[in-house]
Amino acid sequence: MMERSFVMLKPDAVLRRLMGTVLTRFEERGLKLVAVKMMNISEELAKEHYGEHKEKPFFNDLVSYITSAPVLAMVIEGDDCISLIRKMVGATNPKEADLGTIRGDYALDTGRNIIHASDSPASAKREIALFFNDSEINEYALPDESLIY
Ligand code: PPS
Repeated sequence: MMERSFVMLKPDAVLRRLMGTVLTRFEERGLKLVAVKMMNISEELAKEHYGEHKEKPFFNDLVSYITSAPVLAMVIEGDDCISLIRKMVGATNPKEADLGTIRGDYALDTGRNIIHASDSPASAKREIALFFNDSEINEYALPDESLIY
């Protein structure tokens, strides 16, 4: 089923010049980037985005980290892409993430773990709406789309 996922490269990915490397992985897997923007997240948006974790002991660290430098927010489209992207991202704790996953290959610790990706269709819908207007999401066809889908 065609899906859209919200994906965000965290400050460590931006500061370590890993944005292109990570985007290439998604493109090489046949996924389609339909929106991308670099932005500084406000404290308000960070708290809303990570609202489900507000009672967790790491919440303040998480908000402070994600607002510390720019992030690259994006919407990625593809067949069943929400679970596929989560597999490509790997476990939250990089020590537990398999080699070959984005976190397993690049992440430093559970905070500086390179990337966030939606964990369900409901989260994807909520997160995309938080970060993007409809007019910022691009609908276009890839030349080889009929071979992939
Ligand atoms: S939980 O408790 O299992 O629901 O939480 P978890 O999935 O492990 O983590 C949720 C997100 O919080 C981030 N996190 C942290 N950020 C900064 N500092 C610390 N200490 C920290 N601990 C957890 C973690 O990377 C998850 O971020 P996202 O962006 O959702 O992957």
